[in-house]
Amino acid sequence: MHPVDFFMGLMSTDIGIDLGTANTLVCLPGRGVVLSEPTVVAVRPGTNKVLLGGKAVGNTAKAMLEKAPDTISVIRPLKHGVIADFDITEALLKYFIQKVHKRKWGLRPRLIIAIPSGITAVERRAVVNSSERAGAREVYLVSEPKAAAIGIGLPISEPVAHMIVDIGGGTTEVAVLSLGDIFTHVSLRVAGDEMDESIVHYVRNNYNMDIGYRTAENIKLEIGSAYPMEEEVTMDIKGRDTISGLPRATVMSSEEVREALRGPVDHIANAVKTVLERTVPELASDLLEYGMVMVGGGSLLRGLDKFLAEETGMAVRIAEDPLTAVARGTGILLENLDIYKDVLQNEEVEV
Ligand SMILES: Nc1ncnc2c1ncn2[C@@H]1O[C@H](COP(=O)(O)OP(=O)(O)OP(=O)(O)O)[C@@H](O)[C@H]1O
Ligand SMILES: [Mg+2]
Repeated sequence: MHPVDFFMGLMSTDIGIDLGTANTLVCLPGRGVVLSEPTVVAVRPGTNKVLLGGKAVGNTAKAMLEKAPDTISVIRPLKHGVIADFDITEALLKYFIQKVHKRKWGLRPRLIIAIPSGITAVERRAVVNSSERAGAREVYLVSEPKAAAIGIGLPISEPVAHMIVDIGGGTTEVAVLSLGDIFTHVSLRVAGDEMDESIVHYVRNNYNMDIGYRTAENIKLEIGSAYPMEEEVTMDIKGRDTISGLPRATVMSSEEVREALRGPVDHIANAVKTVLERTVPELASDLLEYGMVMVGGGSLLRGLDKFLAEETGMAVRIAEDPLTAVARGTGILLENLDIYKDVLQNEEVEV
């Protein structure tokens, strides 16, 4: 990087944010992703007062999830990629922006925020309002698949079709991009959270045992898969017997977890097929040539790439560092606002 660019990067107050259902990432132009923390806030129940003097946000708050006494309420302010709790989202944005900007805060930054492509005008407005109240001078919105495509370096402005499959915590977005814009897309409210929920249900129905969502997520991360594994494995799990109410342990196999994940995984595969069906033949032939790229945490589910390849007959690749693709895209947009103005234009909302 040229030293002047580096200096500009340090001076700049611009901030790119991937406000995700599960994780929020902050990217600074010239510096890359500087923060990645869970989208979780702990407050005093019935108030918007963030605990620990405003610091119970992100990692600190996630550690409290499902373990908090009645005097603490731990909130995930986004549901399926959209803001469900405005005040809490604002507190979260404010905290993260201050954390990365420290003393420069007085300068009021320009923000680029990545949002799901399927959200309504009212929901977009909500994101802008929260950012504005969190101190932003100007807010630009960019759809997540577009930011992801830019983040992983796809030449989206060319007349060639590319397909992005972003599987996050609350939403799966499947989009075909060409000439800088989204050609077809499907947003699905089925992603990582739904997988965790399916595991909770499976364990309840098959083992008469209640487990928490964090345990379910750990099971998914440790032994979850979408395609038969070379070596199937087992895991000890702990929960509470639904009949006796007492703590109990059992062993779960990776085959069982795969069966539990069948529903959400099929949903995702169907969304990809729907988008392919809606894509005009000229673009479809590009897709056949270049395949699809997966981003988001859910893309890391073992064998999901293989499963989707088999279901669609297309090549599937997982982006490098899939969890940061969207955030990196917002950083690249900020670094090249003049070039990408067109890409942003129809998404721009100034406040
Ligand atoms: N190795 C893995 N295998 C399976 N799932 C994973 C893995 N790593 C992370 N995940 C899941 O990815 C999800 C989080 O992904 P990501 O951070 O991309 O979501 P998000 O951007 O916050 O959500 P959204 O885009 O839906 O608003 C969580 O459900 C998490 O459990
Ligand atoms: Mg996301």
